[in-house]
Amino acid sequence: MTFDLSKIVRPKIYNLEPYRCARDDYKEGVLLDANENANGPVPRDLAGLNLHRYPDPHQIEFKTAMANYRNRTSSFKDITPLTAENLCLGVGSDESIDAIIRATCVPGKEKIMAMPPTYGMYSVCASVNDVEIVKCPLVTSDNSFQVDTEAVLDTLKKDPLIKLVFITSPGNPTGAKIETSRIEKILQNWDQGILVVDEAYIDFCGGSTAPLVNKYPNICTLQTLSKSFGLAGIRVGMTFTSKEFAKVLNSMKAPYNISSITSEYALKAVEDDAFTAMEENAKAVNKEKQRLLKSLTSLDFVDDQYVGGIDSNFLLLRINKGDNKLAKALYRKLATESAVVVRFRGTELGCEGCLRITVGTPEENDILIREFAKQLKALASTC
Ligand SMILES: Cc1ncc(COP(=O)(O)O)c(C=O)c1O
Repeated sequence: MTFDLSKIVRPKIYNLEPYRCARDDYKEGVLLDANENANGPVPRDLAGLNLHRYPDPHQIEFKTAMANYRNRTSSFKDITPLTAENLCLGVGSDESIDAIIRATCVPGKEKIMAMPPTYGMYSVCASVNDVEIVKCPLVTSDNSFQVDTEAVLDTLKKDPLIKLVFITSPGNPTGAKIETSRIEKILQNWDQGILVVDEAYIDFCGGSTAPLVNKYPNICTLQTLSKSFGLAGIRVGMTFTSKEFAKVLNSMKAPYNISSITSEYALKAVEDDAFTAMEENAKAVNKEKQRLLKSLTSLDFVDDQYVGGIDSNFLLLRINKGDNKLAKALYRKLATESAVVVRFRGTELGCEGCLRITVGTPEENDILIREFAKQLKALASTC
């Protein structure tokens, strides 16, 4: 393996000098360096929040706390611990996905690989950047929705223009955590690009690959505050990667992408008791997920197994052995007559007749179970 980051990152980006401001050097005093409005914000009642000042571009305190948490909960041994230097923050992991594509893929020439059924933003970002997407499907035949490691490596060997491989673990919409051995096999046998492991839902099952970024030079692990931390509204995504690639990503990002308000709440999310609360919250979601699974799969016309896995905060259930017509009708009836909104996923590869259902509060889940049973029964009686 001869991984060379300077050959993976686009040359102009690899050599980019990060934007620097006077405040990188001097933070205190009469601050007349950044063309802010010293008279304070409008409306006036926002005075005192310091919102007339630009936010901190580096967010070291947040990154350090998050790195320490992933070190504390790591299942790997003998790997150099993560530090703030292994991290770059984005406006949600959606911005991180876009940034990694822009950093590595030459538009109109280079490609990414994604593994359907998967999260839709990889292909949206690829299109926006004029980057082709090569698809290597997950294994659907045995309902496992694992990565087909051999097929992936074979495709990568044949196509040197593929610069990024996106694995979603646990998967969306599949809910299946990808076995770490499969991820490591790709990392060990491919040095022509970067493997991006999107772990938006990892805290619902544990076993993050983030610590691997100090073992392999060719991995990025994406995480977010949107799911297990319940902070989708503040928009924080995290890229864990080698210090060398993190430096590149930090150089190319907009300097003030994390707002002061976002930063304030993100820091609250990494206080020690907040990590405990997040873990308890994930446990509660998992308990409710089991209850939902039992109730819904006991209904007529719902297959008695989940599809993929149950490693996230949602279920993927198949209606009537893959009946898209019934599943779509149920989806519509739930939304329009019961005011319960789930997601129809029946057109995704291997997900025929599937609905993706996010685990709600116990009260919301009670409503879902009741309305799901009622609407499905009504529909089935007219089939
Ligand atoms: C697999 C996956 N990755 C990333 C995201 C985006 O997360 P964020 O809110 O951090 O942009 C989602 C959101 O649903 C997701 O399902």
